[in-house]
Amino acid sequence: MIKAVGFAFVFMLIVLGIFLWVGHSVTSMVGGGKKVVSAVEITPEGGETIFWGKGRCFTCHSVGGRGSAVRGPNQGVFGEKFQEPIGIRAESRARERSEKTGEEYSATDYLVESLAVPGAYVVSGYKNEMAIVYAPPISLNLKEVKAVITYLQSQGGEPDTEALENPSEISAKYIARIQAASDAGGGDPGAGAIVFEDNCMECHVVKGEGDEVGPDLSAISAKGLKFIAESILEPSKQITEGFETFEVIDLEGRKTTGLKTRDDADEVDITKATGEVVTIAKAEIKEINSGDLASIMPNDLIEALTVKDYQDVLSYMIMQKGE
Ligand code: HEC
Ligand code: HEC
Repeated sequence: MIKAVGFAFVFMLIVLGIFLWVGHSVTSMVGGGKKVVSAVEITPEGGETIFWGKGRCFTCHSVGGRGSAVRGPNQGVFGEKFQEPIGIRAESRARERSEKTGEEYSATDYLVESLAVPGAYVVSGYKNEMAIVYAPPISLNLKEVKAVITYLQSQGGEPDTEALENPSEISAKYIARIQAASDAGGGDPGAGAIVFEDNCMECHVVKGEGDEVGPDLSAISAKGLKFIAESILEPSKQITEGFETFEVIDLEGRKTTGLKTRDDADEVDITKATGEVVTIAKAEIKEINSGDLASIMPNDLIEALTVKDYQDVLSYMIMQKGE
């Protein structure tokens, strides 16, 4: 009984904490508020507070018998299905990958990648539904991401803070991405319009200006900041209906990849990422594939943007309310 009351109390505190935090982040997103300096230590204990708190990992992941979420894999040992905790599993996955590719790939690389680009490797039996935890609304900063990684490693394995401080080439690339995105607080929509012109307008229209390769973004605000952030950070995670990628292979083996923008009795048009339209006669086509193909929106846009550019373009997007 006392235990149950205690649990209910802790749960209430967590819920309250999330509300306060969400309120705070909304304030800082809309331009008010100062940047929060995180006090979390890069230790398994620090990561545990993130996992069961701000990081909201617990809403999708349980750890062994702790928690009841099942949307993502259990990070501990649980039942038939989870015989290795994530600390060990990450090592096995890294080993498999190294054997397959012949490249050095560590357990830390696996975990950094899982958080930076969840869609890069989707655990079998699950959907690509893992949150981009360094984008709104969760918005973990880099230190918090590192802390939560040491917590995961401590589930059956050894925390490797050294590999986080002096990252391998693979991890360094992902860490730079998290850094760029997680630093984004408020933004300047005016400057964002210029960033948009330079990086996005070749494929997107806003208020009648730009090229119509991808969706018109004049009313994108309605889809929310989280969706917009994820669209930029990981375009393939959720491909907008009608903009799926197709791959046409012709009888000579030539491959054309892009959006299918016309399909009639004799011909199809494939619009490539460059905007170039290629017309292919149906009689020339060997096969047409679609389905799991990556978006033609580049997945490394964030690497071309400075932290400020990213913040600014996000705020420009959120201003697009279709009026
Ligand atoms: C909205 C639900 C959701 C949230 C929130 C979430 N995850 Fe996930 N996570 C998933 C799903 C679903 C998968 C499996 C699909 C995949 O591999 O991307 C996954 C996969 C993972 C993996 C790879 C797991 C493995 O077994 O190899 C790791 C590591 C991970 N999540 C860590 C975290 C951490 C840490 C947090 C919090 C900071 C978090 N996740 C928040 C849903 C979520
Ligand atoms: C090479 C073309 C290309 C470039 C460059 C590009 N995009 Fe996209 N974008 C697309 C395509 C195609 C889609 C639809 C497929 C998908 O969802 O990934 C899309 C989807 C989106 C969506 C989701 C739209 C919706 O209604 O669901 C947003 C938001 C977005 N892009 C923003 C941007 C921003 C911001 C930039 C610049 C920083 C950018 N895009 C650069 C091609 C591009």
